[in-house]
Amino acid sequence: MPQVSMTVNGKPATGDVEGRTLLVQFLRDTLHLTGTHVGCDTSQCGACLVHVDGEAIKACSIFALEVEGAEVTTIEGMANADGSLNTIQQAFQDHHGLQCGFCTPGMVMSAAALLKENPKPSETEIRDYLQGNICRCTGYHNIVKAILAASGQETAIAAE
Ligand code: FES
Ligand code: FES
Repeated sequence: MPQVSMTVNGKPATGDVEGRTLLVQFLRDTLHLTGTHVGCDTSQCGACLVHVDGEAIKACSIFALEVEGAEVTTIEGMANADGSLNTIQQAFQDHHGLQCGFCTPGMVMSAAALLKENPKPSETEIRDYLQGNICRCTGYHNIVKAILAASGQETAIAAE
C-alpha cells in the first residue's frame, strides 16, 4: 500500500493509503481529525472543506496521494495557540452562526479562505462565496452576520 506524508495543522502526518483513499478519509479515519465532516457524496455540501497549501479544497474531492508534501489545515488547526476560539469561530458563536453545527467546520474554513483573499467582503460577496457550503439549519443569515463581524464590519450587520 502506498504511503502518503503531509503536514497537518503544523505537524507531520504519514499513513498508508490506497490509491482511491480520499483526503477526507485520511484525515478522519487515519488521523482521527473528525472535525472535517462528510455531508454528501456529490462534492456539494462543503462540510469537508479544508485548506491545502492555503487554498480552500473540498477534502472529498481529492485523493490523499494528491496532497503528498502539502500543508493541510483542518478545523482542529484553527483555534488560537492558547486553545481559545479564533476570531471567526468566536464570531460564529457570538452571532449564533450555527445550530446543529454539522456544516460549521466547513463554513469556518470557507470564511477563513474568503477573508484571506477579501478582508472586507460585502454581504453579497459573502453569500456568493458560500455557495459551495450547504447549511440545513440556519438560513445563512447569522452565518453572514458572523463573517461580517469577523471582518470587523459590525456596522454592516442589519438589525434583526
Ligand atoms: S462531503 Fe465534501 S462536499 Fe459534501
Ligand atoms: S448548523 Fe446545522 S447544517 Fe448548518
